Amino acid sequence: MNRPTSGAPPTDRQGAHSRILIVDYGSQFTQLIARRIREARVYCEIHPPGRSEAWLRRWRPAGVVLSGGPSSVYDPDVPGLDPGLLRLGVPILGICYGMQLLARQRGGAVVPGRREYGRARMRIAEGAGDDLFHGFDPGEELAVWCSHGDHVDEPPPGFETTAATRDLPVAAFRSKSRRLHGVQFHPEVAHTPRGAEILDNFLFRICQCRADWTASAFVDEAVGRIRETAGDAQVICGLSGGVDSSVAAALVHRAVGDALTCIFVDTGLLRSGERERVERTFREHMRIRLVVVDAAAEFLGELEGVSDPETKRRIIGGTFIRVFERTARELGTNARFLVQGTLYPDVIESHSVQGPSATIKTHHNVGGLPEEMPFDLIEPLRELFKDEVRGVGRTLELDETFIRRHPFPGPGLAIRVLGQVTAERLRTLRRADAIFTEEIEGAGIYDEIWQALAVLLPVRSVGVMGDGRSYENVIALRAVTSQDGMTADWYPFEHRFLARVSTRIINEVAGVNRVTYDISSKPPATIEWE
Ligand code: XMP
Repeated sequence: MNRPTSGAPPTDRQGAHSRILIVDYGSQFTQLIARRIREARVYCEIHPPGRSEAWLRRWRPAGVVLSGGPSSVYDPDVPGLDPGLLRLGVPILGICYGMQLLARQRGGAVVPGRREYGRARMRIAEGAGDDLFHGFDPGEELAVWCSHGDHVDEPPPGFETTAATRDLPVAAFRSKSRRLHGVQFHPEVAHTPRGAEILDNFLFRICQCRADWTASAFVDEAVGRIRETAGDAQVICGLSGGVDSSVAAALVHRAVGDALTCIFVDTGLLRSGERERVERTFREHMRIRLVVVDAAAEFLGELEGVSDPETKRRIIGGTFIRVFERTARELGTNARFLVQGTLYPDVIESHSVQGPSATIKTHHNVGGLPEEMPFDLIEPLRELFKDEVRGVGRTLELDETFIRRHPFPGPGLAIRVLGQVTAERLRTLRRADAIFTEEIEGAGIYDEIWQALAVLLPVRSVGVMGDGRSYENVIALRAVTSQDGMTADWYPFEHRFLARVSTRIINEVAGVNRVTYDISSKPPATIEWE
């Protein structure tokens, strides 16, 4: 299977855009830098340090951002500043550790210090309001957010200090002639309220970028690229009904039309009406050839008697692959390409200087297929963040129900029926989940919530119903707000709302006599219960 490598040089089409290279030194905010730059409609990519000079020249960045990172420039074996970057002669912005690397490399003084986090008041130096701090008054106090151990005490020769805080004599510096800039604070975080203006100044004043990275430009280019790749060959796509695979399918459909066949596997672990909704929307709006496979019995059979969450995930992943392969074979389309909705965060994670993060849960996306499949991959969303995927979906006029949709895990309700999964327990959960979703939609708060779900607990509780004692199931409700699913907080429903949902579930779902609301944040909890 041919995977595009992360270090691939740009295609001609991408190369026509202004491009910013972000060198990742392991900061937890590196993705945020990329998001801010993309929000300014400038194309950027994150790469680890150590790219060759030839690679850098081929990549042709209009500017480079050096991220922060957990290291100290004094530690042994820390990632350094590639001299090839400086030889490119393009503007560079070093953030935090990136600034310290620049300072050290150019002969400035970096002093070790204790770790400091939090807000600081920064004053911009006289005469420094013409490039990075354009639009700011010299002498103006600015709220900035810092998180660092070491700091720069003295700018390198030929550099001038452009801002300071009470504790940081050099909160920002520059070499105007060489267009090298450093900031000790983090302009990419929301806690630096005017950070976006500073990044815009870097992009547009200093690097002279064009703001040409738009969803419609992306669609035009992606369609062209997919056509070139696929030629006359047949293409298949595993559709989950979620936003990523739907947008990927719509994009590929625009490129290759009827050569695309989508396969939707009904695992029997879907929510109420989900299969019908996906089918209807696809047939009505997209006119894409869609094959729906009912494999519910097969999945339930495989899951029988299994209660360990990771075993469930593995079984579901394996069964999915088997069903998918079998269906593809039976279709006899002789497909050469397989579409996957891989997003940029998945790509970055596996190439960060810190390496892939520890496995907390094995996230098998429905569509996570094995290496030895006889297909080449088409991953048209590899460069995009989730919000950009939604933008592309809107440009493609995808039905809004797909675009707004909360994320739904590949293993579906199997990881929300805690313990053993049976048809009956799935039915109970499905009903409760439908009521919860319906009430959220009815209250007009669906879009404020990252994800809302009902969980069927593996305990029973005592209750009274009518004049008798009951001993029945417990449903836990969970709703969270989040930017990216990595961290999350519970959603503060009004009490009246919770009361209504609880009453409805207990009255309308047979076998449930108690409802609880989960008020844990992630971390330390996770979004799903298993
Ligand atoms: P957690 O529970 O780890 O979930 O906080 C973070 C996000 O990932 C989704 N999730 C999964 N998605 N396969 C998936 O495709 C999985 O096994 C899986 N487990 C969790 C979860 O719904 C949330 O959006």
